[in-house]
Parts: sequence; C-alpha cells; structure tokens
Amino acid sequence: MSSVPSIAWINGRFLPLEEACVPVLDRGFIFGDGVYEVIPVYAGKPFRLAHHLQRLANSLAAVRIDDPHTQDQWQTLIAELIQRNGGGDQSIYLQVTRGIAPRDHRFPEGSRPTVFLMSNPFRPVPESELREGVAAVTLNDIRWEYCHIKSISLLPNILLRQQAVEQGAAEAILLRHGQVTEGAASNVFIVSDHVIVTPPKGDCLLPGITRDLVVELAMEHAQECEERAIPEAELRRAQEIWLTSSTREILPVTRLDGLPVGEGRPGPHWQTMISHYRRFVDDLRRDA
Ligand code: PDD
Repeated sequence: MSSVPSIAWINGRFLPLEEACVPVLDRGFIFGDGVYEVIPVYAGKPFRLAHHLQRLANSLAAVRIDDPHTQDQWQTLIAELIQRNGGGDQSIYLQVTRGIAPRDHRFPEGSRPTVFLMSNPFRPVPESELREGVAAVTLNDIRWEYCHIKSISLLPNILLRQQAVEQGAAEAILLRHGQVTEGAASNVFIVSDHVIVTPPKGDCLLPGITRDLVVELAMEHAQECEERAIPEAELRRAQEIWLTSSTREILPVTRLDGLPVGEGRPGPHWQTMISHYRRFVDDLRRDA
C-alpha cells in the first residue's frame, strides 16, 4: 500500500478516502440508484475526458438525475483530484446518486444528488496476460434492457464475472438471443476472416470509450473494421477475440470455454492494435 493517503471528493469537499462516508438513506446505498464513470489517467492526464463526461451526461439524463456540475466544473474537479493524488497514472472513479431521501421507489422531491470521486492506483495488465492472453467463458446475458446506461446497479455483472472467475476465466462474454453483447465489464471485439468486428452500439451494451477508440484507430490505420452483430457461431470460430475497457485496455482472449481461440496465442491483429493504442497513450503522456 502506498503511504500517500488517497484523497476523495464527496459533496463539495476533498478528504482522505477513509473519512468519506454517505448516510445510509442515500439512494445509491438503498436502491443502486445512480450512475458512474471510470476514467484512466496517464502521466497526470485524464484519458478522453470529454468522451467520459459526455457519457456521464447521457447516463444522468437517461436516469433523470440533474447533472450537478457543468462540464467545466467536472474538468476542474477531476484535475484537482488527480493533482491531490500525486499525478502520474491513476484510475478515477466517479459516482452520482439521486441523493438522500426516505426509502420510497418513486423519485424524491428536492433531494440533491450525491457526488463522490476517488482515485485508485492504475494497475497495468500483468505482462503474462499480454504474452499469453486470458481465458473467457460464454454466459447468458441476464441483464436488463438499458445496458447503455453506466448504472451503479451492477449485481448481474458481478454475478456473471464471479461465475467466470470460478470457472478459471478472466471475463464472461455475454450472449443474448444467440448474439454477442459485451463482457461483464468490457466490450468485445473479434477478428473474423481478417476483419475486426464489434457489436454495434445500442441498448444491449455500454458504449465503451476504449471500444470507440479502437474503432477509430482501426479506421485511421486502414484496418478493416465492422460494427455489426456477432452470432455465437462466429465468435466460436474467430481467429482472435479481444476485450476492451478503461482498466484493461485491449486484452487478448486466447481460450474460450476451454478451447483455444485461433492459434491459442495473442494474434497479429491484436499486436498491431495494441501498438497503435500504446502510441496514442504515449502521445497523451508527452502532452502532459
Ligand atoms: N467498466 N461494458 C461494461 C459492462 C463495462 O462495465 C465497461 C467498463 C465497459 C468498457 O467501457 P470503457 O472502455 O469505457 O471502460 C464495457 C469499468 C471499467 C468498470 O466498471 O470498472
């Protein structure tokens, strides 16, 4: 553990994380009534902050919580939190709930949203996982129909991830009506006949910030990339499978349900994409 205390923000003030608390009647605690973001920070600079703030605004609007801050205020707040936590590489967790009110399902009148931010250490994916890839299992997507909202109600995702872990896998790849949606906490890409494919955005999956960057990088570097449905059979015969997220960047999957994916090693398309991605991050670091 680092000796520097982790500094958090709650409802208007910075304080050590251990001292940050919310009343038990907070609707985040009672109902999971809130939304969140996870924003990676490289060399003190938040990664694609405008994209994260736009997704936050979309999530808040979708669950009808008034955005408690302007974009400028969010930016200032996040910059100060990064700085108070020593700059460098971090992962910012940001959560907004509908606030504190007597327990009642309907929206309370006049409650103020609770705003909480903390900084976690950015833990790079272990070298061995990049060298060898990870295992994934397929599971039935048991979640609701608003998966585009980055909701803090993550019980289905937690159950799915845990089931994957108990089967010796790093992630669950979810199937709904015979098609891939996403991972329990990641988006999914495959390489099918040398084309990079990822499911299209919609209410079945979270519009991942990392996902969008990978699609952009593919286009920029003239790698063929399609946003279209992936039937289960196509997933199973894919030459490569990748998972993308803010915490795991682009992670190669080399075993699916106990069988090798392609050659059973991280594939050449992943090698190319991860180097584009690293260059993008290095440029961000240099600008810092
Ligand atoms: N989760 N899909 C789901 C269900 C997710 O929870 C996440 C990320 C993603 C990837 O989105 P992004 O590239 O913007 O991180 C897709 C975060 C990291 C989490 O819950 O910790």
